[in-house]
Amino acid sequence: MIDFSSVSIRVFDAADTDAVIALWLEAFPEYGDASRPQRNPRLSIANKLATQPELFFVAVREGRIVGTVMAGYDGHRGWMYSLAVDLACRRHGIGTRLVKHAEAALAARGCPKVNLQVLSAKVDVRGFYEALGYRVDEVVSLGKRLDFVCDAG
Ligand SMILES: CC(C)(COP(=O)(O)OP(=O)(O)OC[C@H]1O[C@@H](n2cnc3c(N)ncnc32)[C@H](O)[C@@H]1OP(=O)(O)O)[C@@H](O)C(=O)NCCC(=O)NCCS
Repeated sequence: MIDFSSVSIRVFDAADTDAVIALWLEAFPEYGDASRPQRNPRLSIANKLATQPELFFVAVREGRIVGTVMAGYDGHRGWMYSLAVDLACRRHGIGTRLVKHAEAALAARGCPKVNLQVLSAKVDVRGFYEALGYRVDEVVSLGKRLDFVCDAG
């Protein structure tokens, strides 16, 4: 029986990069989608380190990275991205703790609402967020890729 009481959450450190990428490659199969080469986890991390790096959190257990979440606040809304928990550590409350940690950090900045996007195919993940109070907004999500920037969004 694994003891998960020792899991702690702290701000990402550059030395965590390889461990975080390994975790994401397992948690987000879409990173391996050849039709979406813009998804580059290393660049995504570098970009985040240049923009509100204090809102990039990792969950650590016995020195090993077992979870991640990125948040950002643009002065109007907060956003959450890249929530992932190591496959072997799921269903022990780590995802919930990461979300609540990110929410608290956003709230501390005066952020009134947090948004996030879930791929439509991830039905289970919607249940996870709904249990945490998230509801589907009656909006259509639009996006536009800015050609001069290659990012992971
Ligand atoms: C989503 C994810 C982060 C959840 O992490 P986790 O640590 O397992 O979540 P928790 O243990 O805090 O789960 C809390 C509750 O959410 C619900 N839940 C979590 N995963 C679920 C699943 N696969 N199916 C159904 N309900 C689920 C359950 O009600 C669970 O409580 P319970 O274990 O007491 O039944 C994890 O499954 C993951 O990394 N998935 C792959 C990456 C991903 O899709 N991230 C989301 C991007 S938007």
